[in-house]
Amino acid sequence: MLTSSVAQAPIRAGKGEGETVGIALLGFGTVGSEVFRLLQENADAFTHRIGGPAEVRGVAVSHVGNKPRPGVPKDLLTDDAAGLVTRDDIDLVVEVIGGIDFPRELVLTALNAGKSVVTANKALVAARADELAAAAEATGADLYFEAAVAAAIPVVGMLRRSLAGDQVERISGIVNGTTNFILDAMEATGASYDDALAEATRLGYAEADPTADVEGHDAASKAAIMASLAFHTRVNFDDVYCQGISDITAGDIQAANEAGFSIKLLAICERLRRDDGTEAVNARVHPALVRKEHPMASVSESYNAIFVESEAAGELMFYGNGAGGNPTASAVLGDVVGAARNIVHGGRAPGENTYANLPIASFGEVRTKFHIDMEVSDKLGVLKEVAGVFARRDVSLRTVRQEDGEETARLIVVTHSAREEVLEAIIDELRALDSVHAVHSVIRLSE
Ligand code: HSE
Repeated sequence: MLTSSVAQAPIRAGKGEGETVGIALLGFGTVGSEVFRLLQENADAFTHRIGGPAEVRGVAVSHVGNKPRPGVPKDLLTDDAAGLVTRDDIDLVVEVIGGIDFPRELVLTALNAGKSVVTANKALVAARADELAAAAEATGADLYFEAAVAAAIPVVGMLRRSLAGDQVERISGIVNGTTNFILDAMEATGASYDDALAEATRLGYAEADPTADVEGHDAASKAAIMASLAFHTRVNFDDVYCQGISDITAGDIQAANEAGFSIKLLAICERLRRDDGTEAVNARVHPALVRKEHPMASVSESYNAIFVESEAAGELMFYGNGAGGNPTASAVLGDVVGAARNIVHGGRAPGENTYANLPIASFGEVRTKFHIDMEVSDKLGVLKEVAGVFARRDVSLRTVRQEDGEETARLIVVTHSAREEVLEAIIDELRALDSVHAVHSVIRLSE
């Protein structure tokens, strides 16, 4: 990770073919225990792939205690993570703890000590990329984070390496399995949001505190990471517009269904061309209507799917399990092999490069189509009044559907594309009309 103004550390020489790479594993939860198990079970294969043995020399946990940790010799365990990462026999630190402040200290300490780092921590990378990149740059250490976005789906590697010679225009994807499970269950069974969330919790998809998933924060971290890599521009978590799914009702799902759409929580990273010809980038997370025929609509349960549009490669699609111990461990171990190879043979992985440094466009600049579901008075002239609100702001309507109610009518309007800020002003104006009793939902279209 460097900008053109940051001096590069000298390329490091390797330890030499056949030398052992000492690994510190920080965290021994669902992912950490799988990383440890697979490193032990496939030790011979790792030696061949790396060019020397990969040996876990310490496992940092919060309490060593008497908790059973199958296959882990007791003398490897420590609760002194900070001491472990700076030990002379450690070359590579694998961070699978989660959270921001504590792992940040450890990762910075490791990088400052010249140890390469593999992390699965999206929140940390999305919030602190600048300082992590600077620390890695200063010592020439590697910083790998494939598991931070959609686990084993190779999004980070694809953006860092495979598309390094291309120009990415847009990424849109389902990058949070928990919310996809909830929305899919609501669509399949007609369940309310609360019931679908309860089912996701019961089955272990949603955490006890589901906020990070359902409010879109987890997806926003992933969007920030993808946008930074895709557009060679630092995009932080705070730069990402974020709206979760907790306001989506069974009625929204049903209305979408009747109109031929599924509702998905999308992370969208986009290169924008402003009227003056300059470029900017935007990253956002929000629920969106996806046409049933689109492959994204058939992404069910907790699966992830990512679409990339780039100038030369055209459209690419990635699909798979974006969470869980094994898929995340797979991504971590891919990074371990990459980082360990560099430790043995010398050199560094291609880092993130923010040379383009494009401005971040505000959400208001983004062009979107809206699906607006309203309750209006069922009387002469209301449709004209509502249409006039759109017309006065030069927003064209694509479809208008009206259904009879008792005293009122349900009016569903789909717009052509317009700037978010214009559409938001229209919604405010509609809400203020006497003839509009309620705006039940406003959902963006993904197309
Ligand atoms: N909680 C995430 C999900 C996985 O539901 O997809 C980790 O980012």
